[in-house]
Amino acid sequence: MTPKIEIYPGKKAMAREFGKQLEQLTQESENVTIALSGGSTPKAIFEILVLEFKDLINWKNIKFFWGDERCVEPIDPESNYGMAHDLLLSRVPVDKTKIFRVSGEISPHDAALQYEQSIKKEVPFINGLPQFDLMILGLGDDGHTASIFPHQIELWNSENICEVATHPDTGQNRVTLTGNVINNSKQILFWITGEKKAEKVDEIINKKDNYKQYPASLVKPDNSIWMMDEKAAKKVG
Ligand code: 6PG
Repeated sequence: MTPKIEIYPGKKAMAREFGKQLEQLTQESENVTIALSGGSTPKAIFEILVLEFKDLINWKNIKFFWGDERCVEPIDPESNYGMAHDLLLSRVPVDKTKIFRVSGEISPHDAALQYEQSIKKEVPFINGLPQFDLMILGLGDDGHTASIFPHQIELWNSENICEVATHPDTGQNRVTLTGNVINNSKQILFWITGEKKAEKVDEIINKKDNYKQYPASLVKPDNSIWMMDEKAAKKVG
């Protein structure tokens, strides 16, 4: 099975579609659980959500988590929480008690254990695993997703809710959700933009070469939508 593909003229159109989906979800439920991703694509999407959906989405009905986090202080420019706080969470009326960040400032092992506890407490369990309503993922240039990189692809099948990973180039420690949790989500949304991603998108969607080396290829297609701009989708659109 191949995942659903949605191609947009650009990030603004992607953001508007996502905003409408989140608006509907927050009208239907008082506890929408969402796991955000890091990277550059979300920045443009957060900007549109603030500008055009601040008064439309019922932000207080959302519990915010992250699919992965860099093990840095929350005010570090590298922090995925810090990016979401600065560009979104500090600009829309969220319930601050419903933000569950990874404590990047403590030891990675302790941060993973602490994050796992908050997920167990705050996210409903379905099929014996936490089930997020929305799982936002990005696609790394190397085929990683969340913070599961090709050189540590075995982390995908961990029995744990989250694991400590390391960036292959910088050695930076990360805390990442694992594959079983990611795939247990009600809805997985890949946000993929830019020409640089077109090759990997083609390899994974069209199952070319040794695409299975890429953690992103392990994301369940049944409940996934690959939201892409025309540049990223140029080989599959
Ligand atoms: C991270 C992200 C990572 C990201 C991809 C795509 O913490 O770096 O979670 O998985 O989503 O690298 O990033 P872009 O949006 O910049 O393409």
